[in-house]
Amino acid sequence: MKIGIIGAGKIGSALARHFRKLGHTVLIANSRGPETLSKVVQETGATPVAILEAAKGMDLLVIAIPMKNVPSLPKDLLFDLPATSPIIDTGNYYPLRDGVINEIKGGMVESEWTSHVLGRPVIKAFNNITADSLVHKGQPKGSKSRIALPVSGDDANSKQLVMALLDNMGFDAIDAGPLSESWHYQPGTPAYGPDPTIHQLPALLQRAKRDKAAGNRDRAARIMAKLPPDFPPQELVRVARLSAGLDALDPRSWIAVLRLGFAALR
Ligand SMILES: NC(=O)c1ccc[n+]([C@@H]2O[C@H](COP(=O)([O-])OP(=O)(O)OC[C@H]3O[C@@H](n4cnc5c(N)ncnc54)[C@H](OP(=O)(O)O)[C@@H]3O)[C@@H](O)[C@H]2O)c1
Repeated sequence: MKIGIIGAGKIGSALARHFRKLGHTVLIANSRGPETLSKVVQETGATPVAILEAAKGMDLLVIAIPMKNVPSLPKDLLFDLPATSPIIDTGNYYPLRDGVINEIKGGMVESEWTSHVLGRPVIKAFNNITADSLVHKGQPKGSKSRIALPVSGDDANSKQLVMALLDNMGFDAIDAGPLSESWHYQPGTPAYGPDPTIHQLPALLQRAKRDKAAGNRDRAARIMAKLPPDFPPQELVRVARLSAGLDALDPRSWIAVLRLGFAALR
């Protein structure tokens, strides 16, 4: 496929690396222009382009930028993206980072907001896994601890395409229903960040509480803001697993909680 990625940060780069490894043509863009992307290009093998080139004629487009910046994407960004090409939204809403987005604060599902702003349907995927797990934890089909990720959206063909892509990347995929149900794995829910298997994920999705998610998210974001940039991402996964009720008997989970506590207090 020809895949365009808007956003060349942690998640955009992680996806670019995977897609290139699978032999896809990958065009990547950021806000500052292709000349600023040499490091990303070196690491991923993607081709740096100006933002409008990243959507033109693509078979698949990924939006991997902070949600606050979605409204400032060029108005003609999607003019030359074929109507049948899916758009993946990796976004998460963090008021600490994104400021207040009134519609989402009022209860609108995050990816429905993005879809509304873009004026096109989107598929929500990759938002609930860290870039670190995405890069390092893909496994062959059938592996016991293979991570499963939810995919939601309103177009069956687009969803199938994204689920097949996930499988090729080394992850199981679960059809999590229409986009309106994608709040089940937004920040602050049990399925956000714990790298579950295909046997664990459905129960986590089911246990999501819509009225509690925003409070959980903001508490977590306040702690995250105090962590040093080099805090090990896999320790965060351990804490997410423990919060989701997984690995409670594994001492490494509790050590991760202590490490997080000490790092946040410093
Ligand atoms: N980090 C993760 O592990 C992770 C995992 C899952 C989902 N997510 C979600 O994915 C989204 C991106 O996160 P991230 O961590 O990858 O962010 P990031 O590391 O901060 O990178 C953001 C990227 O978006 C680009 N960008 C920002 N505004 C843009 C615009 N108007 N046009 C084009 N490019 C623009 C930036 O380019 P410039 O530097 O040139 O501005 C940068 O390359 C967020 O919503 C995040 O919550 C993140």
